[in-house]
Amino acid sequence: MADDDSTSTVDLTWHKVVEPGELEDDSVKMAVVTGKLLAVSRCGGRYGALDNVCPHKGGPLGQGQIEEGKLVCPWHGREYDPVSGHCDGYEESVPSYPVEEREDGVYVGLPAG
Ligand code: FES
Repeated sequence: MADDDSTSTVDLTWHKVVEPGELEDDSVKMAVVTGKLLAVSRCGGRYGALDNVCPHKGGPLGQGQIEEGKLVCPWHGREYDPVSGHCDGYEESVPSYPVEEREDGVYVGLPAG
């Protein structure tokens, strides 16, 4: 029997991006992690972390808004799932990163190195 270890976190390094109580529900902020810009959101009580760059024309997703469960790009209004980065009707998704809610804050896992 083969193990599917695709969800392993062995090669991730975890970085705190949100302090407890910092991010209100249905809001998004930019975070810088090891020089990388992320759009970190809280939507319906769930946290998500996406690349900050919209695949359409590079809009800053961390300056967007959460509307009806979607992260809306501030430049032309594409709507992304704030956890998966998927955009209905488009092939391009925003890269997404795993998030862990811990007692001392919210952490994002980025590939080690
Ligand atoms: S840059 Fe985001 S929708 Fe155009």
